[in-house]
This record gives sequence, C-alpha cells and structure tokens, in this order.
Amino acid sequence: MEPIIKAENIIKKYRLGNQVVSVLNGIDLKIYPGEILVILGTSGSGKTTFLNLAAGLERPTRGNIVIEGNNLNKISEKNMAAFRRKYIGFVFQLYNLLPSLTALENVVLPLVFEGIPSREREKRGRDLLKQMGLGDRLRHKPGELSGGQRQRVSIARALINNPRIIFADEPTGNLDSKTTEEILKLLTATVREKGQTLLMVTHDTEVAGYGDRIVEMVDGKIFNGKAGG
Ligand SMILES: Nc1ncnc2c1ncn2[C@@H]1O[C@H](COP(=O)(O)OP(=O)(O)O)[C@@H](O)[C@H]1O
Ligand SMILES: [Mg+2]
Repeated sequence: MEPIIKAENIIKKYRLGNQVVSVLNGIDLKIYPGEILVILGTSGSGKTTFLNLAAGLERPTRGNIVIEGNNLNKISEKNMAAFRRKYIGFVFQLYNLLPSLTALENVVLPLVFEGIPSREREKRGRDLLKQMGLGDRLRHKPGELSGGQRQRVSIARALINNPRIIFADEPTGNLDSKTTEEILKLLTATVREKGQTLLMVTHDTEVAGYGDRIVEMVDGKIFNGKAGG
C-alpha cells in the first residue's frame, strides 16, 4: 500500500542571530491510509515543528513531505491554504478558535472559503456539532464553553471538509484526565468511522496508547518503537 503521508529526510534549522538551531535532524516516516499514528516525545523534541511541516504550515530546510502523491515543496504559498483545506484537518492544543464567533460559526469557517452556501454550511456544522455532543451549544462562544467543549468544537472544525488526514498536536494537553479520555475516544472513533488517517503528537504515554502504532521522537529524530541509545 502507498503511504498517504511520506516524510523524506526532513531537516529543519532555525537561525537565531548568528546561532543556528537544528530542530529536526533527518526524519523519515511513512503513514498509511486509515492508520492512527502517534509520535511520542518529550517537550522540545521537535513534535510541533514536524507536525507543522507535515501539515504545510511551515517549510522544511531540506527534505520532502509528500501527501497523497503531492510534494508540498512544489505547492506555492498561494495554493497551500486551498490544498490544506482539501486534504487536512488540524486540531491544536489550545483550540485556536476565534473568540468572537459562535461554536457553529467557528466550525463552518473553512466552508466559507470554499464558497459553500450558508444554508448548507449551517446544516453541516449543526450535524457535526450534534455528533460531537454539542447540539445544545451551537450559539455559545468559546469563552462560554469548557476546555473539553472547546476541543470538541475544534475537532468538528477539523472534520467539516471531510479531509482524509487529521493532525492533532497535544489535543488533550490542557484537559483533565476524564475529559482527555472522552476527547480521545471521540477523536479516534470518528477517525475510524470515516476511514481517515490520524497523526497525533504527544508527550503523554497514556495518550499515545490510543495509537495503532507509536514512534518516538528524540532530539529531532524518529525511532521506531523505542528510543535509541
Ligand atoms: N521558530 C523557532 N525558532 C527557533 N527555535 C525554535 C522555533 N520553533 C521551535 N524551536 C525550537 O525547536 C525545538 C523543538 O520545538 P517544538 O517543535 O515546539 O517541540 P515540542 O513540540 O516537541 O515540544 C525547541 O528547542 C524550540 O525551542
Ligand atoms: Mg509541541
């Protein structure tokens, strides 16, 4: 089977003044369709940096990310947002919801850019929020919702375009353990039901247990199954 996401020798360096910080040091990774893959690593190991590159939010210094046969290096900045909307949903640790919009408005925002008529947007958003258990919170703003509810809204937003791939960066990093379990069950069950591929990064071994496969990130390198050394 062809991987749905392929990372080839990914290097990422940042220049800070005259110092160069080497964050990712040659990452090779293949993720297959329908897989729930977890990257486990301590804080500072490079998880967020890698996820941002894989999702086309940032560019690598060297190396290729290939998603469904599309090399992200060959997609212009101008076309990247549309590419991401088509293929990718992203769930952030701190939700990244717009505070002045309601739950429903946040969820359907990606559809606005697709030019989908408002009545259809609202229907899809309402249906999805109901599935997320938030049918009675459609008009609430993020500030009027609990952390777990905010993350449900953000999962709904990630799913609204029916992308084949979901990226999740420490999606339960700010939630208590009971809510963490609820959110991870919801996220993994939804992804499986829709046959999507999930790439999740976390520092938490319990969260990692939700993966079909776990790889470990240490100092910007990936180890299969266990850390080297
Ligand atoms: N924009 C940046 N400029 C310089 N260094 C950065 C930048 N972003 C991340 N880093 C560094 O890269 C390393 C990995 O960061 P990150 O990917 O956020 O790790 P993680 O998500 O695993 O905690 C850290 O040492 C961090 O300081
Ligand atoms: Mg991080």
